[in-house]
Amino acid sequence: MTTTPLLEIRNATRRFGGLLAVDDFSGVVQRGERVGLIGPNGAGKTTLFNLITCFTPLSSGSVRFDDSDISSLKSFEVARLGMARTFQNLRVMPNLSVFDNVSIGALGAFGHSPVAALLHRRGYAEDISRRTWEVLERAGLQDVAGELAANLSYGKRKYLEIARALALSPRLLILDEPAAGLNDTETAQLGQFVRQLSDEGLSLLLVEHDMNFVMNLCERVMVMASGRKIADGTPQEISRDPIVLEAYLGSDIENEGEAA
Ligand SMILES: Nc1ncnc2c1ncn2[C@@H]1O[C@H](COP(=O)(O)OP(=O)(O)OP(=O)(O)O)[C@@H](O)[C@H]1O
Ligand SMILES: [Mg+2]
Repeated sequence: MTTTPLLEIRNATRRFGGLLAVDDFSGVVQRGERVGLIGPNGAGKTTLFNLITCFTPLSSGSVRFDDSDISSLKSFEVARLGMARTFQNLRVMPNLSVFDNVSIGALGAFGHSPVAALLHRRGYAEDISRRTWEVLERAGLQDVAGELAANLSYGKRKYLEIARALALSPRLLILDEPAAGLNDTETAQLGQFVRQLSDEGLSLLLVEHDMNFVMNLCERVMVMASGRKIADGTPQEISRDPIVLEAYLGSDIENEGEAA
């Protein structure tokens, strides 16, 4: 029996004026899989994530999630279907408490646009509160639930972003540079946390410049350069692929984490 991939990107293309930021990119994430997306700065990784999550419209191509075409949906509709993401530049709301930041994610799970969800908030209060506490505990943030997000350390804010995404009860979690700005200990802890989520059945797609993090965590790695997919394979295959090494010329792939 064959099962369809959880996520399938078909010939995704995005132009910004004359620039082809994403150029005919195809790839899949299978159910339960941990997939890394790597590539030099400006390769088009974040743009591809924006296309997948419908934050940016495709110029051409399509994206399928759980065997339906989601290409023309709005980002909150995609989230409701079970695809949650974090952002390269943290987007936590600094003047809201940690609890409220996560509960906004939980509101999205109730099938409304963020505005409608806020308006109907009272009706779901109990479910939202329960889900929010579950996720806060999961992410080790229960003790700082009442703090303003602005007062958290950078490392904790990164967990807060992930917690807000998890509040949606996603099936696919998309992380854009989760380890950026973290020290080695924090990065190792984050790796363990993400792997536990995966062990519980969550599928993962992540962009990361820290090669150790990607190679230890991911079962498969896609490599992007100048908008195109140039390689797709196991970490072992990728790390000795001459095309990949060439794309990283001048920035030793082994040390890309420190360089970024
Ligand atoms: N909204 C936009 N308008 C115009 N150009 C854009 C826009 N977003 C991205 N680009 C361009 O598209 C290209 C790909 O950018 P993108 O941010 O996707 O790269 P990236 O692989 O995520 O890089 P990094 O590793 O530095 O985060 C870059 O040349 C960037 O300047
Ligand atoms: Mg990026």
